[in-house]
Amino acid sequence: MKKILILGAGGQLGKELHELAKLTTEIDVVAYDRQALDITDVDAVFRVVKSENPDCVINAAAYTAVDKAESDSENAFLINETGARNVAEACQAESVRLIHVSTDYVFNGQKDSPYNEKDVVDPQNVYGLSKYKGEQAIREVMPNHIILRVSWVFGLYGNNFVKSIIRLARERTELSIVADQLGCPTSTVNIASVILQIVPQICDESFKVKKFGTYHYCDMPETTWFGFASAIVEAVRAVEARAAEAGAVETGKIEVSQPISVKQIIPIMTREYPTPAKRPENSRMDTALIEKVFGIKRAQWRPALDKLIQQIVNNQL
Ligand SMILES: NC(=O)c1ccc[n+]([C@@H]2O[C@H](COP(=O)([O-])OP(=O)(O)OC[C@H]3O[C@@H](n4cnc5c(N)ncnc54)[C@H](OP(=O)(O)O)[C@@H]3O)[C@@H](O)[C@H]2O)c1
Repeated sequence: MKKILILGAGGQLGKELHELAKLTTEIDVVAYDRQALDITDVDAVFRVVKSENPDCVINAAAYTAVDKAESDSENAFLINETGARNVAEACQAESVRLIHVSTDYVFNGQKDSPYNEKDVVDPQNVYGLSKYKGEQAIREVMPNHIILRVSWVFGLYGNNFVKSIIRLARERTELSIVADQLGCPTSTVNIASVILQIVPQICDESFKVKKFGTYHYCDMPETTWFGFASAIVEAVRAVEARAAEAGAVETGKIEVSQPISVKQIIPIMTREYPTPAKRPENSRMDTALIEKVFGIKRAQWRPALDKLIQQIVNNQL
């Protein structure tokens, strides 16, 4: 039985990972949210890693407010760079494995095909730069790490694009969504599953040192934010239609639900929706390496989206 320690366990990925790990019989899990452990407190990080004595730490703690980071860079770097370094130093000192989660936003988005792990990074915003500096800090202090870059994360916990689109689709009749950024939406359930498949492999003594390093994972297929928003609205409509057909409205199951009011989703260009942080046009990542080295089967985001929307609509989240 391998023991994992999850940091940032109150976030959308951290919470999902905790829930999934609890169901996994071969994994013993302990989870710290920000209140229980602030990764910028180096002494506390060392204390917890030592006292919990896990086989592997999963660092899902991060400063993730991409736009806010532009005017709050000190905190972004403190958490994403210094915090990541603290975690890696503690893991190195205690000979504990580390899986650190990073982002597609380390790239500039100019490549016209999916990014692989050897591609040169060139972050376009403060968040991306702070995450890249965090990666570099880990590479410096702990050569045998796993950095897992993921993209366009969505799930049941916390705030994300799916929840925002559902809220807006209930409030408005028209939505304008950016259609010139390409990427792969990725479910927290699928990322958590990937992490839990990697853990036993890197904790095994026979794991080859040369396999440590940086990996890309994202679900498939690629789409745009417009494409993803359209899929979200379509899925909500399907759940609402099924519920209505089954008489759920009459039985009160969704009676407090505000049905979606949106009639039209309009594709727009990024320049028509200015944000403080610049985003890469191409966020697609090549997952061939993680598939080959760890035997990961790349998942589709659509089934995870359908399940999530069912949970959201039925539970009035
Ligand atoms: N969300 C995306 O679309 C996306 C895309 C690519 C990569 N990623 C990466 O995926 C990972 C997980 O992201 P997520 O979507 O789960 O983000 P999230 O929901 O914002 O979760 C991050 C968690 O880290 C916590 N945290 C912040 N500062 C901390 C500190 N000093 N000490 C301990 N915990 C701290 C946050 O707590 P508070 O909420 O209390 O601040 C939050 O619970 C991150 O590394 C992120 O960079 C995310």
